[in-house]
Amino acid sequence: MKNRKKMIVANWKMNVTSEKDAVGLFNSIKSVVAKLDYTQMICCPPHMYVNQVAKQVNHPNYRVGGQDAYPEESGSRTGETSVLMMKNSGAEYVILGHSERRHLETKSDVARKVTAVLEHGLKPIICIGEEARDKNWKKTLQQQLKDVFNRVPKKEPENIIIAYEPIWAISSDKKNPATSTEYMEALEVIKKELQKIFKTAKAVEKIRFLYGGSLDDKNIEDFLRHAEVNGFLVGRVSHDPRILMTMFRLIEDHVQKEIFAQINE
Ligand code: 13P
Repeated sequence: MKNRKKMIVANWKMNVTSEKDAVGLFNSIKSVVAKLDYTQMICCPPHMYVNQVAKQVNHPNYRVGGQDAYPEESGSRTGETSVLMMKNSGAEYVILGHSERRHLETKSDVARKVTAVLEHGLKPIICIGEEARDKNWKKTLQQQLKDVFNRVPKKEPENIIIAYEPIWAISSDKKNPATSTEYMEALEVIKKELQKIFKTAKAVEKIRFLYGGSLDDKNIEDFLRHAEVNGFLVGRVSHDPRILMTMFRLIEDHVQKEIFAQINE
C-alpha cells in the first residue's frame, strides 16, 4: 500500500524505570515527531507507564502501544495486564509474540492474544523470526505465521503489523543486524505464506511489515532502499533521543528523495 508513513515502533522493553523518565523521554521526542511528514512513532513503554505516556499524546504522528497483553478482560490472573486494561490506558497497539516473551508463552497463547487485541480494536504488532539461518529458517517463519493465523479471524488486515525480528540479530553485542537482502528474502517467504492464509493478495497488501534487530542510525539506510519496508521495531536505540532524531531525519530525507524522483520520471 502506497503513501503510508514509515513506522518506528520504540520498544522500551524494561529500560525506562520511572514514570518521570518515561514521560520525560516521550516529551523530549514528541515535538520533533509532530513535525515529520513521512514518519509515525509508536512508543511502547513498560505497562505501568503506558497510561501516563498516553496522556501526553495529542498528535497523530505519535501513538502508544503495550509490550504484551493478557487475552482476557479481567479475572484471577495475578500479575497480568489485560487487553482491556491496555486499551483503557490509552494503548492503540500491542507488541505480541516477541522472542523475549515466547519462552514464557505457547504459540496458542500468542494466537489468543492477537485475536483478543483485534477484538478490542487495537492493532497487534506480531513478531516472528528464526533463531538462525539454518536449513529450516523458512519453515520456522511459515510455521509461526500458521500458528497465529490458523486461529485468528482473517479480517482487518489493515490493522495487522508483522515485525520480522530474526533472533540472531536482536540486541546483538556484535551489532549483527540482518542486511536488507536478508530482510527481503524473509519478506518474500512471509508474504507468500500470508497469501495462502488470507487467500488474496489484496489483503496482504494491507498488512504492514517492519524490520527489527540491532537497527540504528548506521544501518537504517540499507533498509530504506526497499519501498517494501513499512517501518522498524527498535529496542536498544528506542530510548536514545539523539539516535532516534537521526533516524527520523534519514527516513524523511529518503522518502522526500523518492517523491522527487517519481515527479521527475
Ligand atoms: P534491538 O534493537 O536492541 O536489537 O532490539 C530489537 C527488538 O527486540 C525490538 O523489539
